[in-house]
Amino acid sequence: MITSRTWTKELLRELIETRLSGVKFIVVSNREPHMHRYAESGEMECIETTGGLATALRPIMAATKGTWIAHGAGNADRATADEQGRLPVPPGNPSYTLRRVWLTPEQEEGYYYGFANEGLWPLCHIAFKRPIFRLANWETYQEVNRIFAKAVIEEAAGERAIIFVQDYHFCLLPRMVKEMGGANLVVAQFWHIPWPNREMFRTCPWSHELVDGLLGNDLLGFHIRNHCQNFFETVDSSLEAMVDREGWQVTRGGHVTNVRPFPISIDFEANEALATSPAVDTAMEKWCRKLRLGDRLLGVGIERLDYTKGIPERLRALDFFIESHPEWRGKFSFVQIAAPSRSHLPEYQAVEDEIDKLVEKVNWRWGRTDWQPVTLIKKQHGSVDMVALHRLARFFIVNSLHDGMNLVAKEFAASRVDDDGVLILSKFTGASRELDTALGVNPFSIHDTAHAMHQALTMEPEERQRRMKSMREKVSDNNVYRWAGNILSHLMKLDISEATVNE
Ligand code: G6P
Repeated sequence: MITSRTWTKELLRELIETRLSGVKFIVVSNREPHMHRYAESGEMECIETTGGLATALRPIMAATKGTWIAHGAGNADRATADEQGRLPVPPGNPSYTLRRVWLTPEQEEGYYYGFANEGLWPLCHIAFKRPIFRLANWETYQEVNRIFAKAVIEEAAGERAIIFVQDYHFCLLPRMVKEMGGANLVVAQFWHIPWPNREMFRTCPWSHELVDGLLGNDLLGFHIRNHCQNFFETVDSSLEAMVDREGWQVTRGGHVTNVRPFPISIDFEANEALATSPAVDTAMEKWCRKLRLGDRLLGVGIERLDYTKGIPERLRALDFFIESHPEWRGKFSFVQIAAPSRSHLPEYQAVEDEIDKLVEKVNWRWGRTDWQPVTLIKKQHGSVDMVALHRLARFFIVNSLHDGMNLVAKEFAASRVDDDGVLILSKFTGASRELDTALGVNPFSIHDTAHAMHQALTMEPEERQRRMKSMREKVSDNNVYRWAGNILSHLMKLDISEATVNE
């Protein structure tokens, strides 16, 4: 019986061991948590992949000891898995199984780059990029969903199982799994990105099929209530189903899908512990030298290089800030870490190009021999390096144009064991609902964002502390174990006693 109000890894494990013993836990996501690849030196390396999804699920998998099914995208992935694509992870301290699914380059192109990231990603984010829907990509998306559904049936192997599906790559999989003989498996899905309004969603030529596939789930989770409501409206306007808003469920063909908000989070304790480690102290010194920081204040931005993150808008705001506040010239520096992402797609190449040009412009316009306002580093960094930057930042900026949650904002708060530092946070992120003592900005307003930078740099220590303490309490309480615990507790209320594959 779980009595404590603070969710921990141990409590989650207890819940799983007492209430879910004998039930397999299978996660499905496109992105694998650990990827093997050959480095330029020819040596094989294993990297932890980026993005909110992998960050949130790694600690859960360690607690459940389940199986994680994902696309094996690394060029050394086959060499490190067995014939079925299975391997124990994390390397060195294995606690669960990774089952890699192999896709051809054409399948990856059509399903991942094409339908998921040129179609669904811009469709759901409303970042004013027109979604692209091609018939061939849609066909590949269906094909790949079927491949993953088959892997689920294999891994469940006729036993009682909960299938936890992640994100927009697998809208069709829940219904496929049920139809492939898994009618009694409990299937839940978490949608990590926003769900747009119904007018937007219906621009997808296959919107009905997508919604129908999602209604194969027993539980469908979004970050916030607003996304659930958008989903209800989309269902209402697209197909025959009974939407019960008060009961938070949709019934289609006699099958009930529960729809609920579950705001995702981070492993607060682990992040906090890392922030006080000697490795982070050393990394902080390294950054100070590398950025030639001296006694300058530091502004920081860290994210995937994605057009939804508002990096060009941020650089324009910086430019305006330096222009309108000459007193800060030479007195602060800004570092932007942008982890390369989906760079095969033209929209991502375009935003990278735009960012390069803007950085050049700002540094050319305002830089002096002894001061360069912006340092751009296009490279994925490990957690020690990122936490070190969190700790050095006077302000940390997340000005996404639209974001389901944004875990980077929560990581910043967790790293600030000194209760200092200011978070500038877009009002269009799920995180802004919880982190209401951050400096909220409209990312489309350059003035608003520049003003927040000024406020952050001039804020009194007591005010910084008051705001940061409140954010830290919230993230500590609403941690990733609460997110997982709430989802699992909800699933336990559904009948999993018969959760098996029908042979
Ligand atoms: C977002 C999505 C995840 C995705 C991550 C990284 O957080 O919601 O599903 O894994 O971005 O993107 P990538 O395409 O590299 O997996």
